[in-house]
Amino acid sequence: MTAPSHIAAVPVTPLNSGATIPQLGFGTFQIAAPDAKAATLAALEAGYRHIDTAEMYGNEKEIGQAIAESGLARTEVYVTSKLNNGAHARADALAAFDRTLDELGLESLDLFLIHWPLPAVGDYVKTWRAMEEMHRSGRVASIGVSNFQQAHLQRLFDETDTVPAVNQIEVHPYLTQESLRAFNTEHGIVTEAWSPLAQGKVLGDPVISAVADRLGRTAAQVTLRWHLQRGDVVFPKSVTRARVDENFALFDFELTDSDVLAIAALNRDERTGPNPDEFNRVP
Ligand SMILES: NC(=O)c1ccc[n+]([C@@H]2O[C@H](COP(=O)([O-])OP(=O)(O)OC[C@H]3O[C@@H](n4cnc5c(N)ncnc54)[C@H](OP(=O)(O)O)[C@@H]3O)[C@@H](O)[C@H]2O)c1
Repeated sequence: MTAPSHIAAVPVTPLNSGATIPQLGFGTFQIAAPDAKAATLAALEAGYRHIDTAEMYGNEKEIGQAIAESGLARTEVYVTSKLNNGAHARADALAAFDRTLDELGLESLDLFLIHWPLPAVGDYVKTWRAMEEMHRSGRVASIGVSNFQQAHLQRLFDETDTVPAVNQIEVHPYLTQESLRAFNTEHGIVTEAWSPLAQGKVLGDPVISAVADRLGRTAAQVTLRWHLQRGDVVFPKSVTRARVDENFALFDFELTDSDVLAIAALNRDERTGPNPDEFNRVP
């Protein structure tokens, strides 16, 4: 696979681990296993060099096959996966990490996250200590969390030695997460915005459409550009090749500061996924 020239335009964000992460990637939630290899190959062909998956998504194996088939060097593709909810106990977490590497067919990961804090189930502080062990083993460059609220992060700061490199949380124009994003930044944690398009729900919004019409772009491009200009890392998901290309074409236009503010003003604190304080489902 040859590298499209526009790959160079994707900014990289420094992490507190000393590594860097491409600010734009490809999301793979709800891509069924039989479709995941082709979808990932299409994304790599379009220029994406950052793939976000999870054991929970059931598609790590096919994503690993796509990376192998692409012929790209391991160092050219940034790979994130996540610890599943049933594996928070130390021994289970270490085994799950090995399983994820095995499924992906990789010797190391770029980023591994605790998928959900599950505050009423176990003790995510102990799980984080297992993540620190994985990091010390040298088989994962950076470790982080997902769906952690401020109080969950505060416990990690108070009781462990490593500040998460990222906090992957739901963020989009209807859930702008100003205070949690500011808290992440204050502590040197990069915010990753999941469901950056609110799974398509924001794309008919008149404010976003007006900006898109003025700039001659689509509502999805304007929304993704809004995230990038706010400094968050994003990985939109699409199994539609034209959209995969569209979502990567974000580096030859800019929103004004007032566009960014007008889109942020759409916030309604409306989630598409569960509230992390209440979500405690273990498979
Ligand atoms: N950590 C967590 O708990 C968590 C939770 C959810 C998601 N995530 C991560 O975040 C990634 C992105 O979130 P997401 O998949 O929930 O939602 P999303 O990226 O906000 O939206 C995906 C949906 O939007 C459609 N879409 C994509 N591009 C479009 C475009 N240009 N125009 C119109 N429609 C478009 C897709 O349709 P088609 O595919 O049919 O084209 C799909 O239905 C996930 O894939 C996953 O990697 C993490």
